[in-house]
Amino acid sequence: MENKGQFSPLQNVPAHVAFIMDGNGRWAAAKYLPREAGHREGAASVRAVAAAAKKLGIKYITFYAFSTENWRRPAAEVAALMSLLGETLDRFTKEKDEVARLLFSGRREGMAYGVLQKLDKALAATAGNNGLVVNLAINYGGRQEIADAFTKLAAAGKKKITEADISASLYQNIPEPDLIIRTSGEMRISNFLLWQAAYSEFYFTDVLWPDFREPQLLQALVEYARRERRYGRRGG
Ligand code: IPE
Ligand code: IPE
Ligand code: MG
Repeated sequence: MENKGQFSPLQNVPAHVAFIMDGNGRWAAAKYLPREAGHREGAASVRAVAAAAKKLGIKYITFYAFSTENWRRPAAEVAALMSLLGETLDRFTKEKDEVARLLFSGRREGMAYGVLQKLDKALAATAGNNGLVVNLAINYGGRQEIADAFTKLAAAGKKKITEADISASLYQNIPEPDLIIRTSGEMRISNFLLWQAAYSEFYFTDVLWPDFREPQLLQALVEYARRERRYGRRGG
């Protein structure tokens, strides 16, 4: 499917939208289902939102799939999340021409070999794609990313470090998110894209991530189109 973004009826479509996908557990609890069922439905939202983003002409999306803090959850839930991530990566590998070019943001250390293998396969299978870029934040922490960037710069012998040096040393050198969407009513950043979010617009919704699909994305984009981004200048 070709990208028909240029015909989007929406004004002012953000180039990069990042998602803090929250509320899977509450979605499941409300239906008396195990938390894993919420994560499974949440994975379906990932696919639906990626397809919608592509259709709407968004160029980059980042999904916060697993934080460095999520290791604190019970082992069984971590295992279920990792297994679902593996399934999602396999799907991206199989549908390589249809969906997107994948990128990875996170620390490989600490991730299981099996997941890394699936990740590398998906990255390789989609590398030639020109369409939508889907950046997957897995085992990701914003502070860790900044610390890793400084480690790289120190190893390169950099003494005087500029903002541009730091930006270029992050996990991915892609445009910063124009819009960060967090579902489930929580209003915090939870260690996500701390450097890149300096001038992002934020959109919070009570909708739980498994219920977040194309109509909810459209609603967020309509709201974004009304915002005035001033970057410190005067309004008008
Ligand atoms: C988001 O849903 C999934 C991850 C953080 C990996 P949660 O599992 O955090 O759902 P709630 O917040 O408990 O409802
Ligand atoms: C944020 O959700 C992390 C991801 C979406 C991967 P959490 O549910 O882990 O966030 P907190 O702990 O409530 O801040
Ligand atoms: Mg949560």
